[in-house]
Amino acid sequence: MKRLILLGASGSIGQSTLTIIENSRNDFVLVGFSVGKQSNKIPVIINNHPSVKHIYLIDEVEAKKFAKKYPQITFYSGETGLETLVRTVDADTVINALVGFVGLVPTVAALESKKDVALANKESLVVGGELINELLKTTGQKLYPIDSEHVALAKCLAGQKRENVKRLVLTASGGSFRHLTREQLAGVSVKDALKHPSWSMGAKITIDSATMMNKGFEIIEAHYLFNYPSEQIDILMHDQSVVHSLVEFKDGSFLADLGPADMKVPIAYALYEGKREQSLIHESLDLNTLSSLTFHPFDADRYPAVAFARDALKYKGSYGTILNAANEVAVYAFLDGRLPFNQIEKIIGQIIGKHGIIEKPTLDELVALDKEIRHETTLLIESLK
Ligand SMILES: NC(=O)c1ccc[n+]([C@@H]2O[C@H](COP(=O)([O-])OP(=O)(O)OC[C@H]3O[C@@H](n4cnc5c(N)ncnc54)[C@H](OP(=O)(O)O)[C@@H]3O)[C@@H](O)[C@H]2O)c1
Repeated sequence: MKRLILLGASGSIGQSTLTIIENSRNDFVLVGFSVGKQSNKIPVIINNHPSVKHIYLIDEVEAKKFAKKYPQITFYSGETGLETLVRTVDADTVINALVGFVGLVPTVAALESKKDVALANKESLVVGGELINELLKTTGQKLYPIDSEHVALAKCLAGQKRENVKRLVLTASGGSFRHLTREQLAGVSVKDALKHPSWSMGAKITIDSATMMNKGFEIIEAHYLFNYPSEQIDILMHDQSVVHSLVEFKDGSFLADLGPADMKVPIAYALYEGKREQSLIHESLDLNTLSSLTFHPFDADRYPAVAFARDALKYKGSYGTILNAANEVAVYAFLDGRLPFNQIEKIIGQIIGKHGIIEKPTLDELVALDKEIRHETTLLIESLK
């Protein structure tokens, strides 16, 4: 029985993960979880998982109220609460389904306190890939990706000789505005931006999919997970989100992973440590009803965000943190109606242009830099009004 801590239980990945745990009670037991602001989701999760003894939520006052109502549970809150929960609770695996930079410290804390990590929070690798890989070496702990593309790549690479691999190919839908030109992006609405053509996901990753910053982040993620250089990781546009990624081999053949657009499939693969289990709680993909699978070349001019991610692998160090912080602030400004969609990449470019790179940043330096860049990006966006 694997003891699990689920970070981000109130989010899209978090809720799908709870469904898997609830359908695999012989294999997993939930001992702790976190939500952010959606504390209304806490009672339902406690009810479904009486094994939970540790819960984090952002608001300290609310945490005290919950502690009175549930005296058998320890509640954590505030800026350091997530890290404390991860470090102190006895568990085998931490599922990190947080969104954004806030996921980095818990990933590090999990590995340092001898826990494996099932990672949906790709930002952990974008900002701290070098640091995390170093920790994986020194601690001997394991990190299992949850992103569907990376689970697809892991399946295609399993049992293959590294020297036979020509390249990794990440498929991409192009997001909610894939049929629009760059010129047509002026004035697009938040409501339309949140309509992803094939996946139902949290707001931030849905916008990152529309700019394709998400695919850029996935290139960084693939680099740190599988140790291939940026030049060997390509993007292929694919409309149906059925082929989740491919590996091309030097003998001219490809391996691809196909499946439904349901995150429960890759989440289960990660929870079972990269093994297939027959916990079929999702719809099977009916290939009989699929009339076609279509592919197109990636257009770098249409999606300039991807070049920033490639630069993050060229310069490494603190570049990923600057990129991620500027992106997070710009995306939330768009979601709040404070920034037009087509200004997101411009803002990021301006912020990156102002900063030098710290070569081997410590965790503390990354945390401080993230705060600084957020502040600066917020001021830059305000100055545009
Ligand atoms: N959704 C997908 O299909 C998908 C696919 C592949 C990868 N991913 C990656 O998985 C991660 C999660 O994505 P998602 O779509 O599940 O996001 P989401 O629905 O927005 O959920 C994010 C979770 O993080 C919590 N959170 C946010 N800020 C926090 C803070 N400052 N402190 C504590 N908790 C905080 C949220 O809490 P509240 O909501 O309670 O505030 C929520 O539980 C992202 O890194 C994303 O890129 C997602």
